[in-house]
Amino acid sequence: EGLHALMLSAGKLYFGTATDVGNHNDEKYQAILAHQGEFGIITPENSQKWEVTEPRRNQFVYTTADTVAEKAQDNGHLLRCHTLTWHSQLPPFVSSGSWNASDLTDILTTHITNVMTHFKGRCYAWDVVNEALEEDGTYRESVFYEVLGDKYIPLSFKIAAQADPEAKLYYNDFNLETSPKKADGAERIVKLVRDAGERIDGVGFQGHLIVGQTPSRRALAALLSRFARLGVEVAWTELDIAHDFSSAASNGSSAANATQLEQQAADYVSVVGACLDEPRCVGVTVWQFTDKYSWVPLAFPGRGEPCLWTATYTKKPAYDAVSKLLREA
Ligand code: G3I
Repeated sequence: EGLHALMLSAGKLYFGTATDVGNHNDEKYQAILAHQGEFGIITPENSQKWEVTEPRRNQFVYTTADTVAEKAQDNGHLLRCHTLTWHSQLPPFVSSGSWNASDLTDILTTHITNVMTHFKGRCYAWDVVNEALEEDGTYRESVFYEVLGDKYIPLSFKIAAQADPEAKLYYNDFNLETSPKKADGAERIVKLVRDAGERIDGVGFQGHLIVGQTPSRRALAALLSRFARLGVEVAWTELDIAHDFSSAASNGSSAANATQLEQQAADYVSVVGACLDEPRCVGVTVWQFTDKYSWVPLAFPGRGEPCLWTATYTKKPAYDAVSKLLREA
């Protein structure tokens, strides 16, 4: 049985993956993606981002995002939609404008409303605001923060709730697992949105982690339950666990050895296990399932092989360990 089928048996909603049009002509990849029961939901890795969907003001382009959405439909997968208000992958018209508050509010309203309306009824969830925090828990500098202050966050959720009342609305960020002050900041964001009277349904933990430096299952479950107690659902939204090939464990090699593969498997079990331990954790999405298409070595030379399948599509010990964990759940 595939990972998604096993997640359902364990009482969760899904096991998913990021994928995009760049992967569409790879037959072996597509066979795994379409394999019955392996995945239940997909996140477009890049196609729904602002620079793609509204490259110039008021010009909306859904060509690639629609292709991904059709593929999801063909495979019977739900969509986790990603992302609306984010400082990165913004088109120049947004990032380099010198806006006043009213102009930028208009731009945000038009963007969020148009994109969410286009995909209305097809997104299980939207990452409404992505990566608004620095590691020390303060707000990240961005055009949104500069012009609107922290009000851009509840504003984004307000616009989103009006555009698609059915989609779950998420705040999504990375390193919440390893930076306690950033986790405090995320909690503050949940309260900020609530105090403004707006709806926030979930917090997404990206889970871009490092082999051998991944917190324990107990610590991760405690983190998830801290947010669950605020009354939001939680999920692992972009999970991958990369080897650090500059570490002593690598001994100069840039391919994982057996010991490292076992540690990676143990770390995946900690993360997925933490979701099993928290009733309000709805599921796990990996950020690509094969090392062939991982973003990690491109962004962090010296790190890599973070996925469940190798670059040549064999299942790694981490796959087998997650499968076993779920079968026994
Ligand atoms: O499409 C262009 C192509 O035309 C060009 O030739 C090529 C040359 O560099 O670049 C291509 O764009 C790349 C794009 O991915 C599409 O493949 C960008 O350079 C590259 O920077 C971009 O990286 C993406 C990254 O977000 C950008 O921030 C990764 O694929 C994507 O996995 C990554 O995903 C993010 C999540 O959205 C948010 N959380 C962190 C996560 C990892 O960084």
